[in-house]
Amino acid sequence: MEAGGKPGQHAGLGVAQVHVGHTDLGESQRPRPLPYPDEPLACRGRLPNQRPIAFRLILLHPPILETLQLRWPDEAACEAFARQLAVRPGFADAFIELHGTLGAGKTTFVRHLLRALGVTGRIKSPTYAVLEPHELPGGGQAAHFDFYRFADPREWLDAGFRDVFAAPGLKLAEWPDKVAGLLPTPDLSITLDVLDDEQRGVLVRAFTPLGQALLQ
Ligand SMILES: Nc1ncnc2c1ncn2[C@@H]1O[C@H](COP(=O)(O)OP(=O)(O)OP(=O)(O)O)[C@@H](O)[C@H]1O
Ligand SMILES: [Mg+2]
Repeated sequence: MEAGGKPGQHAGLGVAQVHVGHTDLGESQRPRPLPYPDEPLACRGRLPNQRPIAFRLILLHPPILETLQLRWPDEAACEAFARQLAVRPGFADAFIELHGTLGAGKTTFVRHLLRALGVTGRIKSPTYAVLEPHELPGGGQAAHFDFYRFADPREWLDAGFRDVFAAPGLKLAEWPDKVAGLLPTPDLSITLDVLDDEQRGVLVRAFTPLGQALLQ
């Protein structure tokens, strides 16, 4: 779809060439993680008259409720999108996954989100610490994860990550695929695609009603 095709449906989030897709309510290509490592699939029961494998397939594919495609021509567009998203109702308790190759702009986007929420001072990348927590000036917490170096799933409980995801607050996770199976379903999944030094293709998918509302 060309720019300006149907921007009205997401007018508040249109930054550059906005491609809006209510596409086909297709299914996720990513496996749906179990909420916690100690929650076996068998505990989730079985649908009547269905074989276990059918139930498993349902669990592995949460529906995509909304899809939004953007192109950021430069970092200013990244910042503008962050500013618009950060003021959405419910954002303070959202869980957002950030996908993309090394240097795609995941941390940069998080920094713009946190700045938009009033965080001042240096915003460190959690590349080594895995988690950088932030107090939000307006109240509440933001947890910024980078799971690139997270190697041992047994550390999940010890590190308190389960508790972070069970508590209110904003959660932002880079490299979520490194801990697939441990994370809950995200409200939004954002995938950054490097087009050149400055341009990024952006695919935003909502997996929950909150995520869907954030894109309205
Ligand atoms: N349109 C853009 N959006 C975001 N960042 C951009 C854009 N154009 C250029 N950049 C630059 O790209 C770099 C992205 O680096 P960043 O650390 O955010 O990547 P990352 O995805 O977090 O990488 P990693 O996987 O290593 O954590 C920054 O230097 C940023 O200034
Ligand atoms: Mg990063």
